[in-house]
Amino acid sequence: MDKIFEVRDLSYQVGETKILKHINLDIEKGKYLTVIGPSGSGKSTLMRILASMISATSGEVLFNGQAIEKFESIEYRQKVSYAFQQPTLFGKTVKDNLAFPFEVRKKDFDQAQVISYLEMVNLNETYIDKSVNDVSGGEKQRIALLRNLLFPPEVLITDEVTAGLDTENKAIVHKMLNEFNQRGLTILRVTHDESEINEATAKIEIRNGEMAHD
Ligand SMILES: Nc1ncnc2c1ncn2[C@@H]1O[C@H](COP(=O)(O)OP(=O)(O)OP(=O)(O)O)[C@@H](O)[C@H]1O
Ligand SMILES: [Mg+2]
Repeated sequence: MDKIFEVRDLSYQVGETKILKHINLDIEKGKYLTVIGPSGSGKSTLMRILASMISATSGEVLFNGQAIEKFESIEYRQKVSYAFQQPTLFGKTVKDNLAFPFEVRKKDFDQAQVISYLEMVNLNETYIDKSVNDVSGGEKQRIALLRNLLFPPEVLITDEVTAGLDTENKAIVHKMLNEFNQRGLTILRVTHDESEINEATAKIEIRNGEMAHD
């Protein structure tokens, strides 16, 4: 199997505080990997490094065999997309957010595609013109996730994206992500959700900044 990520002896430290310590990890292309571990153990930090939002203080990360610093950042963001733990919507309306992925690629806004994506997460076309101030936290999370997926990346990193959702909407997001994964999207999912952990097929655990092996 091809490796999409190879993490070699990666550490991250802020001042004297060692947040990640000597992480080694290979992630195969097409995998749906669940990342677990206690609060504050370093999960989001590791995901931010893989998404190239921050840089490791030592060690290296290869993406498709190449050091991630070698990629141009706009290009890398389109390949490795990070869905935030606490997403924010920008601009005035939901449309401002969903038009953004088209704008950065200099493409015309595809209203029909956006409506079909909204419907995938149990929302409808009336949301397009809603003010970002008038959508609930759970709706915001789902809209933010669509922003990541309108142009599917190679890797989607989801950082507790279902945390604010009820059972029904969680199931909707799970189904959508499973479908994308079946079509080849590699997914790294950080979660504390017990049902997600129980159903996970592949798991790693970060404990106190280290890979837990047991
Ligand atoms: N820039 C920073 N400066 C100082 N400390 C930091 C910095 N970034 C992260 N930390 C600390 O590193 C530790 C790991 O943070 P991280 O956000 O990766 O945890 P996490 O595993 O995602 O936790 P949670 O499950 O609560 O989201 C925490 O103790 C956090 O306070
Ligand atoms: Mg976190």
